[in-house]
Amino acid sequence: MDTEVVTGTAGKRDELVRRSEQARRAGSPQAIARQHAKGKLTARERIDLLLDDGSFVEIGQLARHRCHEFGMENNRPYGDGVVTGHGTIDGRTVCVFAQDFTVFGGTLGEVYGEKIVKLMDLAGSIGCPLIGLNDSGGARIQEGVASLAQYAEIFRRNVALSGVVPQISVQLGPCAGGAAYSPAATDFVIMVDGLSHMFVTGPEVIKSITGEDTDPEVLGGARTHNEITGNAHYLATDEEDAFDYVRILLGHLPSNNHADPPVYAPSRAETPAEREWLETAVPDADNRPYDMLAIIQRVVDDGELLEIAPIHARNIICGFARLDGTSVGVVANQPLHAGGALDIAASEKAARFIRFCDAFGIPVVTFVDVPGFTPGAEQEHGGIIRRGAKLGYAYAEAGVPMVTVVVRKAYGGGYGVMGSKHLGIDVNLAWPTAQIAVMGASAAAEVMHRKQLLASDDPATLKKQLVATYEETLCNPYVAADRGYVDAVIEPSRTREEIVRRLGVLRTKRRPTTGKWHGNIPL
Ligand code: HXC
Repeated sequence: MDTEVVTGTAGKRDELVRRSEQARRAGSPQAIARQHAKGKLTARERIDLLLDDGSFVEIGQLARHRCHEFGMENNRPYGDGVVTGHGTIDGRTVCVFAQDFTVFGGTLGEVYGEKIVKLMDLAGSIGCPLIGLNDSGGARIQEGVASLAQYAEIFRRNVALSGVVPQISVQLGPCAGGAAYSPAATDFVIMVDGLSHMFVTGPEVIKSITGEDTDPEVLGGARTHNEITGNAHYLATDEEDAFDYVRILLGHLPSNNHADPPVYAPSRAETPAEREWLETAVPDADNRPYDMLAIIQRVVDDGELLEIAPIHARNIICGFARLDGTSVGVVANQPLHAGGALDIAASEKAARFIRFCDAFGIPVVTFVDVPGFTPGAEQEHGGIIRRGAKLGYAYAEAGVPMVTVVVRKAYGGGYGVMGSKHLGIDVNLAWPTAQIAVMGASAAAEVMHRKQLLASDDPATLKKQLVATYEETLCNPYVAADRGYVDAVIEPSRTREEIVRRLGVLRTKRRPTTGKWHGNIPL
């Protein structure tokens, strides 16, 4: 049909309409039916659901592959299996590509790769977020090295755009090989429960190489990557939920590293009851857990925190909120899980989040209740020394405004890395319940006075006295305040206004410039 000779103006126009129509229906009806039967949308349906109505402008609709082997020369659908273009979300421009599983299994060939590369270059030059909707069998086998080359070109641009524009990957089907590597280099990865998979090597290949039987869901399903590996940051219930999350997330982010995030008026002021609740939020007993999320919700605008990776490393909370309408990144220990101790997963989760905030000029607010790093051979052998150090590195490297509030414990190494003054934090606040010390009173009394306690006729009473002395002398916020490591001890009910006022002053904070290319974070 393509070789048909078209004559006359009307004929040429009809030809355009015909080609365009073919492009919009590139996948066969059978492939589309299979896609729908799996509970998946097509690439164009996804774009329509994600973007503002009628805002999508397609780029490269008529591009086709140049492969002449394996019968491919007789099958050259327009678009080559990926839909690329720009549109708006809440009126703000975004670049988006959607891989079309109904065409060659969404696999990436040379032309397909070139289309994504062109779009990435556009996102970088106009400074808008890049959103990838991935659903692909990875490198297109028929196109060999030309396909691999494009994956590497895309990866190079993921790196070049990192810290320049936000990059978001939504995994909406099987994402094998390159369809997993590239998203891993983006800022946020969203997966749909039961629908999305990511693996470098799929179950069948694993079976043939190692003989190991693996279940795709266990190996690389959405729950696995959200809970265990930390490769994904949100577990969506369905595609619509995934796109809702993307839209809310973008509402907290600037379009690029030279822009500001959108500012919203808080729709509800905090009530006196909410403020008062904070005064007794910390339990009397040192080791009683409480929900740090509830504290954050009573401090930020409208009680809203958009958590990043909420079900991975639950002992630390990371998320975006607003204070007086302005975006902030929140990092907080969560005493409800593992006592809020820092392990490898928590350190890496928070470090990556802080680095994102720093790259995009989003202030970081930290709430501390940390008993220290998680002890044990498993963590030591897993590399907690190097991997835990990332957290302190991220804080020390960051140049955005930063405020830390010590709510309860700030013990040992945990004190040092959780946004302490010494890492360059601008404002360090503490509640009267803060315990800033090498360790808790009970453990400290036993270490310091083991011999006396063993020799005592009434060790319980003696320990009580020793604990009281330790608490009064060392385990409080005042020793740190005395030295200026804490700028103010505040009434908990004043937390929101204290942070808002101090961030207001810090708005004009200047980043230090250094001559170095980049540091060498302990990866
Ligand atoms: C060419 C492919 C393909 C591939 C799938 N297809 N993967 N064609 N290259 N890599 C085709 C199928 O032949 C089929 O074509 C259509 O896509 C749909 O695939 P199905 O297998 O029918 O679908 P499904 O059962 O849902 O399984 C999807 C899948 C499976 C899990 C993705 O197809 C699969 O395991 N594919 C191979 C994955 C892989 O190993 N990719 C290479 C990764 S290496 P028809 O014509 O029948 O519809 C890589 C290197 C990156 O990406 C390096 C970066 C530097």
